[in-house]
Amino acid sequence: MSARQAPRVLLMHHVLDPAPALLADAHAEVVVYAKDGSLTEDGIRAAVEQNGCQGILSQVMDPIRETVLSVPGLRIVSNVAVGFDNIDLAAATRHRVMVTNTPGVLTDTTADFAFTLMMAAARRAAEGDRFVREGKFRGWAIDMLLGLDVWGATLGLVGVGRIGGAVARRARGFDMRILYTDEVALSAEVERELGATRVDLTTLLHEADFVSLHVPLTAQTRHLISADQLAQMKPTAVLVNTSRGPVVDEASLAEALRRRVIFAAGLDVFEHEPDVDPALLELDNVVLAPHIASGSVRTRSEMSAMAVRNLLVGLRGERPPNLLNPEVLDGVVP
Ligand code: GLV
Repeated sequence: MSARQAPRVLLMHHVLDPAPALLADAHAEVVVYAKDGSLTEDGIRAAVEQNGCQGILSQVMDPIRETVLSVPGLRIVSNVAVGFDNIDLAAATRHRVMVTNTPGVLTDTTADFAFTLMMAAARRAAEGDRFVREGKFRGWAIDMLLGLDVWGATLGLVGVGRIGGAVARRARGFDMRILYTDEVALSAEVERELGATRVDLTTLLHEADFVSLHVPLTAQTRHLISADQLAQMKPTAVLVNTSRGPVVDEASLAEALRRRVIFAAGLDVFEHEPDVDPALLELDNVVLAPHIASGSVRTRSEMSAMAVRNLLVGLRGERPPNLLNPEVLDGVVP
């Protein structure tokens, strides 16, 4: 692409203000992905190829793999998400395609939602909503829909990056004891600030009243929580997942919830999204949400703008602020 040519961008889905204006200001030619109901790699490849796109603005469910990344002329894929497991980063690097994400702007909003699910599951809020709507509420009763206290309980954070850390900060206000697992230990200073203690996963599962997942989806974290791990949790424990669905073996979780191996779960993500294991839909002790943890008006708008800025900087041939594979620019691609 010469400096004078307008960059051509494949917009996989619409984005929120002010992102469209940023694209217009940059005189980007925007091609909107005409979805035929399915998001296939071949369909995306054809759209990139036929329109000569140099950039793709993708979202979490778009499969951006080798088939797409090998299209000649593609320079950058900008994901409107912090997670990027929908993109084959190694293939992108091999094909010298930059990949960016949107870290930071969604941290607190997502942590708020992890807490929302924790509280809704523990205090049976969604069940209570259904109860009232179904006309079952006949007056206060001492034993009606009793749940578990969040305050003063032990929180186990599986992964304590940006979002896990933000959940820990909220938990302090609830006088919670905080345990965490992570490949890398926090500094002593941050551990003190968060009041968090590093333990191994087995200890965390045995001791936590709430287990909240904050790891990226990788080969190592796929099915990190399966039947064995659920069996190690307390029968009064609550599992919360705002990370990625496949981190949990969904069929085993449904079975554990059905058999009351654990008390409840709060899920924002699913193993085969957007499909949900039908067994989960039958259960009252799970709160289900449609992948909306970062879904506040402000945050989704900031994510859109950040992703477009990453894209435009990359298309100008400069280094985008949230570049995930700097090797592409540093010329050390094997
Ligand atoms: C949403 O799931 C994200 O990764 O930002």
